[in-house]
Amino acid sequence: MSNLKYRVKDISLAPKGRLQIEWAEKHMPVLMEIRKRFEKERPLKDLRIGAVLHVTKETAVLMRTLIAGGAEVYLAASNPLSTQDEVAAALAEEEVHVYAWRGESEEEYFWAIDIVAKSEPNIVIDDGGDLHVHLHSKLLDIAKKIKGGTEETTTGIIRIKAMEKEGILKYPVIAVNNALTKFLFDNRYGTGQSTIDGIMRATNTLLAGKVVVVAGYGWVGRGIALRARGMGAIVVVTEVDPIRALEAAMDGFLVMPMKEAAKIGDIFITATGNIDVIRKEHFELMKNGAILANAGHFNVEVSVEDLKKISIARRKVRPHVEEYTLANGKKLYLLAEGRLVNLVAAEGHPSEVMDMSFANQALSIEYIAKKPKMKPALYSVPPEIDKTVAELKLKTMNIEIDKLTPRQEEYLRKWRF
Ligand code: NAD
Ligand code: ADE
Repeated sequence: MSNLKYRVKDISLAPKGRLQIEWAEKHMPVLMEIRKRFEKERPLKDLRIGAVLHVTKETAVLMRTLIAGGAEVYLAASNPLSTQDEVAAALAEEEVHVYAWRGESEEEYFWAIDIVAKSEPNIVIDDGGDLHVHLHSKLLDIAKKIKGGTEETTTGIIRIKAMEKEGILKYPVIAVNNALTKFLFDNRYGTGQSTIDGIMRATNTLLAGKVVVVAGYGWVGRGIALRARGMGAIVVVTEVDPIRALEAAMDGFLVMPMKEAAKIGDIFITATGNIDVIRKEHFELMKNGAILANAGHFNVEVSVEDLKKISIARRKVRPHVEEYTLANGKKLYLLAEGRLVNLVAAEGHPSEVMDMSFANQALSIEYIAKKPKMKPALYSVPPEIDKTVAELKLKTMNIEIDKLTPRQEEYLRKWRF
């Protein structure tokens, strides 16, 4: 275990970070309600939690909630470019062991994850699977002793499923991403809004009248397409799944292969969780000035390698915007180095959305802490947790809903009228 209490960019940023966290707390009422109960009940007493998450003001609210529940917390970033340095500094001044700063090298990124893993946590939280994979490939003795973990995002769930299928998973993992109160809101409306926000902050480009190409019509792609249309863009969707392609078409979007979309797009946004979605053959077809952004978890969706290979010059023209000049003089603009544009060029999802995602995290962690023994496997978030989060969120939004009458309940149970 490391003696280093924290490593952040600049500890003097802490007062600024505290203000940011205070702002998030005001917009995360569900998590704050859970925190109040955790303070009384201390369900995480004597537990060490290792977390690899985007180090944002919303993550800070989750960390403070886990500490209120009695846990000791170790935290590293789930992306080298997403850390909010002032937030990391504020957490470092509190009780969190935090190892994160914006602009980590690949080596530094895994060094920080290694510290979290070697803290020998009882419970782990991950966003994208790098912590789970690190524990299973390099630190099996530590992995074997872990009581359980959670996974925040679609790409991480894919990796855990692959580990489960190979029979090598050493602890139970709750798929927080797959809770209804997570993916229906976070992946769709959270990423929908924050991706557009990131593109606008980076470029200040006008969306009205532009052709926006969205690759992938999953939960993230749906949200981005919806919000881009709301800003007046003409939206094109590319897909590999016939059902999702059909859904996009009937939702009123143009659907075509990327090799066709490449010729007409002004702004390209990948949201597939897949590799090489936009590559050399597509860059070559694009219009001069096209903008390239990614919202998927890893920086593999836009092939930066291909872009570098076919370019004769490259320069940074604005924060988070790199201009690539191709041999024929055409210029393409890559945002956020091809990493998640919403967390690099903007602040990630709004706090109100992360309120539900992180309420699911806090309650799933409490569930693991209280459960005597769970076999190593991928688990759904218990439906009662999902329901509690929805009910609490509605309450904090002052929204009331109807209740089934006894006659309606009976009607819904019967098959003979
Ligand atoms: P999803 O599985 O619901 O959707 C992915 C879609 O991409 C699927 O419909 C699939 O058919 C399609 N697809 C796969 N390969 C493709 C290709 N080559 N071309 C076109 N379409 C292709 O997943 P999701 O929940 O929408 O998540 C997508 C990605 O976004 C994941 O990497 C996830 O981890 C990430 N994510 C990012 C954020 C963020 O804050 N930026 C938030 C949530 C999820
Ligand atoms: N993922 C997307 N947005 C986020 C945020 N604001 N905080 C933590 N993780 C996120």
